[in-house]
Amino acid sequence: MSISSNNPLREELLSRQVAKPCSMVIFGATGDLTHRKLIPALYNLAADNDLPPGLKVTGFARREKNDLSWRNELEESNRKNSRSGHDPETWKNFAASISYHQGDLNDTEAYHDLAKHLDSIDDASTTQHNRLFYLSTAPEFFPVVLENLKAAGLNQSRNGGWSRVIIEKPLGSDLSTAQELNRVLSNTFNEDDTYRIDHYLGKETAQNIMILRFANAIFEPLWRSRFIEQVQITCAEDLGMEGGRGGYYDTAGATRDMVQNHLMQLLCLIAMEPPTDLSADSVRDEKVKVLRSLRRMGPDEVKRNVVRAQYTSGEINGQPLPGYLQEERITENSRTESYVAMRVFIDNWRWEGTPFYIRMGKRLPKKATEISLHLKRPPNVLFQKLPSIDGSNVLTMRIQPDEGVSVRMLSKLPGNDLKIEPVKMDFHYLSSFGKGSPEAYERLLLDAMAGDATLFARRDEVENAWLFIDAIQNAWHDNDNPPAMAEYPAGSWGPVEADQLLGERGHKWREI
Ligand code: BG6
Repeated sequence: MSISSNNPLREELLSRQVAKPCSMVIFGATGDLTHRKLIPALYNLAADNDLPPGLKVTGFARREKNDLSWRNELEESNRKNSRSGHDPETWKNFAASISYHQGDLNDTEAYHDLAKHLDSIDDASTTQHNRLFYLSTAPEFFPVVLENLKAAGLNQSRNGGWSRVIIEKPLGSDLSTAQELNRVLSNTFNEDDTYRIDHYLGKETAQNIMILRFANAIFEPLWRSRFIEQVQITCAEDLGMEGGRGGYYDTAGATRDMVQNHLMQLLCLIAMEPPTDLSADSVRDEKVKVLRSLRRMGPDEVKRNVVRAQYTSGEINGQPLPGYLQEERITENSRTESYVAMRVFIDNWRWEGTPFYIRMGKRLPKKATEISLHLKRPPNVLFQKLPSIDGSNVLTMRIQPDEGVSVRMLSKLPGNDLKIEPVKMDFHYLSSFGKGSPEAYERLLLDAMAGDATLFARRDEVENAWLFIDAIQNAWHDNDNPPAMAEYPAGSWGPVEADQLLGERGHKWREI
């Protein structure tokens, strides 16, 4: 992208990513997220020399441990989870910044002790009273942690430093619980200091959606209902309920677990108008407008436009797998969906009449997330005598794996006869840039340390997304005549009802 040197956009782009030295405190220090994502992300940033010098990490949890024993446990899990491998020397340098603070989340005194611990770090190092609190606990502890941080004065900036909080999903389980959580948050931290993490926004390819759209002349003129027939957002996972996840998942389901947050965010990036600049609020203002333009569904519309399903037994790569209802920690006769497909409309000037199809499912044949824009066909006057083939141009953004972008188009087959075949122009991150993408958490942690909230969800984004999702949940749960629960064998691409949903308008799910 070429941007003139006196353009404020340029300054904005260049001034991003200056992460400041700080103390990062992880609540839920012994949990899965800390081991699988947070520490490996920090380690990889350290390995790439991207961490602000002087960063200190403090783990806060109830279990009895000391600095050394916690570091050893983290080293073990970093070996397994770090994307760039594990270098003992790099680890040793990084681990020197890690300490453990034992405390009960409910005990206010423990937070006063934490404040003293952080003060002593500030006295002895360069953290400059900057504090980043990461709430990686079970969601029922969010309010008590926030209140206790306030009671210990840790929510306030002091001595020229800043105090920020990062909070993980689930941000509520419906609109009213999300509002309640937001109320507690706004009582303790300023909105500007609140970072609601949605790790999909940290994925390299999700960030590239704005560049693809707004830094290239070729796509944007077509990016509207006049030229786009339909849009598909697919998030497929081969995983089921491994690692004891069934207990949580059964209370959430595919729609709350992934559509309300990750897929709604992708939808916003695809559908939003160009922001006036790249500031966090300008970008988030545009995303909120998309959410507010989503056509709300009543119970009848939910029946017509949403398919929910559970997997039955099946197999993936020859391995036999149980059905959803037979998985561990799933309640008997559960009515929780492991798959959801929906047709949604965005009632605004740009997208009037274009269906957006969204699907998410567990135990599909493979892990893949992608977005495809299917263009309308050109007038069929010149080649109508040729055998008919599906002629629509498709622009596909592969969010993961094999990150990239491709365009499907028709081409003449070489030879003396007039034969037409679909071909693909393909861009792969790996071959074009010679390296894979960093983990989403790496970028997001750096942004929070830099005070850049662009890739974090704002309060009104979360609440508007819930408003849309609640209508669907209500139709499923508070209804004398709820829509049916469809079924699909584990390892298949979902229930036939989801194919029929697209078939009604002559569309088909893209083969992945
Ligand atoms: C989480 C969901 O937010 O995202 C999980 O709770 C899901 O159910 C995960 O598996 C997917 O993330 P990713 O980055 O592996 O696509």
